[in-house]
Amino acid sequence: MMKNIDSSGHLRGESIYVDDIRELGGTLHAVPFLADVAHASILSIDYSRAKNSKGVIDVLTAGDIPGENQIGGIINDEVLLAEDKVHFIGQPIAIIVANSHYEAREALHLIDIEYQELEIITDPRTAKEKGSLLFPARTFKSGDVDKAFADCEYVFSGKADSGGQEHLYIETHASYAIQLERDNIKIYSSTQGPTAVQKTVAQVLGLSMNDVEVDVTRLGGAFGGKEDQATAWAVMAALAARKLRKPVKLVLDRADDIIASGKRHPYSSDFKIGLDKNLKIKAYKVTYYQNGGAVADLSPAILERTLFHVANSYFIPNTEATAYSCKTNLHPFTAFRGFGGPQAMFVIESAIALSAEMIGVERSLIQEKNLIRKNDRFHYGQSCDSNNAIKSWDKIYEKFDIISEIQRIRKFNSDSVFIKKGFSLMPVCFGISFTKTPMTQARAMVHVYQDGSVGFSTGAVEMGQGVNTKLMQLAAKAFSIDIQRIKIESTNTSRVANTSPTAASTGADLNGKAVLIACREIRKRLEEVAAEVLEADAGEVAFVDGEISTIRKNRGLSWEKLVETAFLKRVKLSEIGHYATPLIHFDKNTERGHPFAYHVYGTAYTSVVLDCVSGVYKVEDVKIVHDFGNSMNIGIDKGQVEGALMQGIGWMTMEELKYDDRGRLLADSLSKYKVPDIFSAPEKVDILELETEGPELAILKSKAVGEPPLMYGIGAYFALRDAVRSFNPASKPDFDAPFTAEKTLLALYAVRNKK
Ligand code: HPA
Ligand code: MOS
Repeated sequence: MMKNIDSSGHLRGESIYVDDIRELGGTLHAVPFLADVAHASILSIDYSRAKNSKGVIDVLTAGDIPGENQIGGIINDEVLLAEDKVHFIGQPIAIIVANSHYEAREALHLIDIEYQELEIITDPRTAKEKGSLLFPARTFKSGDVDKAFADCEYVFSGKADSGGQEHLYIETHASYAIQLERDNIKIYSSTQGPTAVQKTVAQVLGLSMNDVEVDVTRLGGAFGGKEDQATAWAVMAALAARKLRKPVKLVLDRADDIIASGKRHPYSSDFKIGLDKNLKIKAYKVTYYQNGGAVADLSPAILERTLFHVANSYFIPNTEATAYSCKTNLHPFTAFRGFGGPQAMFVIESAIALSAEMIGVERSLIQEKNLIRKNDRFHYGQSCDSNNAIKSWDKIYEKFDIISEIQRIRKFNSDSVFIKKGFSLMPVCFGISFTKTPMTQARAMVHVYQDGSVGFSTGAVEMGQGVNTKLMQLAAKAFSIDIQRIKIESTNTSRVANTSPTAASTGADLNGKAVLIACREIRKRLEEVAAEVLEADAGEVAFVDGEISTIRKNRGLSWEKLVETAFLKRVKLSEIGHYATPLIHFDKNTERGHPFAYHVYGTAYTSVVLDCVSGVYKVEDVKIVHDFGNSMNIGIDKGQVEGALMQGIGWMTMEELKYDDRGRLLADSLSKYKVPDIFSAPEKVDILELETEGPELAILKSKAVGEPPLMYGIGAYFALRDAVRSFNPASKPDFDAPFTAEKTLLALYAVRNKK
């Protein structure tokens, strides 16, 4: 198994991030001036004291923008710098540029601004009532829900809310822009989407895309938070660099990053679920109120993915799901691992939990009876390609003896008064592909150098997930040479153009397929040269560990010698591979199609232990059976499962994004926003591979792994609910995540059912 190529650099502190790039002489430092009220007209701003402050070179405002003051990625509703109004706390108004970061920050306090405050909306349901939507609602339907409800034995309705989530990547947003000769500008950006930065810089500066070069070596974490949200900061650095003709660096302080940058969308939802007497779910109707914040950002795409994951791993023949993207006076909400999918899954799991509690059966019984099977149709028309939902469910019971685990918990609970345990099962089914079909393409540029070494570039951005390691494995395998001979270059828009962001778990699939296509082309040419040298047919030539031979003449030709020979024969040793996922399509008029290359499945079992005096709990044990396909790097992939699980548990249990009614984020630092640490990690995590063949559309049949395991964390919520109810069976807590220790304590002592 190949280790992550970045491990030793990270460990030694030698890996280079944007803020580590050696600064050019004359580099200036930019700090954004951010709005301090959530909705207001700007009556006046006076920058004169700030401009005269020590070390300050300039203060840039909307008036300094030569092109369009517009950075919206999907909808043109977002200015780079506020003009006469602000719409959320943290909205950038101006950029202070100084000789040092410290001097720029000092000048922030010298800006005199006067606001006229306007009405503030923070709650999505309120926004919907007032008609404050970011874009029109969408509805996905299958079968006939109303008719199906009429035939159901059981029908239940309820609400489910899930909170937002701060990405808390270790590296904050960072960019470094260098004005070169003529109109050329080069930008180092900590972005998942170099092309988005390139395109937006061109638009704001009034340049063409070919004037702008964006380069990314790696990110210190992203999780979706740098898919769209990195752009603004890169554009600001570029704007200042171009005006002042000096290199400009902009690295956000943690406090600014937390206040100003987008997070996972909070959702409020209403559901209605209907089951027949055999506990088959026959009908499900749901309305989602997505809190979109003040501007659209990626909300339309995230809302769409919510609608794809309405039913999680279950087959429900009649569904109707409507989603509203509600415009509020909070910072934009954005991509976060799972991209609207987790929010949908929390609602269906809540609906199942409510049904189980009302009927008086185990939640897992309803879950198991409704798992999706091969050839069942998802509500958007695609047919299910495997029985992996059921297989992962069965395997977890079998390999981990879940029946005995549950019996042990029941026994423990009957012997213990103030300490209770709880458990849950959490199946997950997640679709792989950007749901916007044009984004499902990628390119790779491969060079074989005269000395036999190989260098290549793709559109994939390394953010700790190990994509570069996987891509190098592919190139080494394609040429049958040692990985030491291979180098992956930084991600650069001048080498690989028109890239999709590295997102939607597709980085290795899309870019890897492009790498294989390019390598195979070059290899074909090399096979012909080898055949000539070895006096054989091209088909007979075998590449093994850097040696090229034929069955008849196995007295090898070395890889180096072959490459040198090919070069002397003027054979083309470079190639650009282009890959576009075949088969997928989606029609937004009918909301039907085949949007996903494939699905990833799995099941988690989670147990928690709860101190019923204090409400403090611990996730004890998580067991997972996960569908990796045929993993090409199980070490990296299991690392992704563990990290995603922890992030999911954090979202569901402790990370609480609290805002006041003036739109101010109260949980604006790590002393107020609690993220999982080593002490809150489960005591034990076991991950087993589901033996599956793996689909052709996954790279080497190794399935995408970035996002799907996050949803296993939802299991922690329901395990906790189980523990609460074994202490106080009358307690029916609202479905309101995160289930913090505070809410747990209140739930333990709730006297009777809330409505
Ligand atoms: N995750 C899932 N789907 C997506 C994403 C993402 O980050 N971006 C666009 N579609
Ligand atoms: Mo994403 S939520 O950038 O895969």
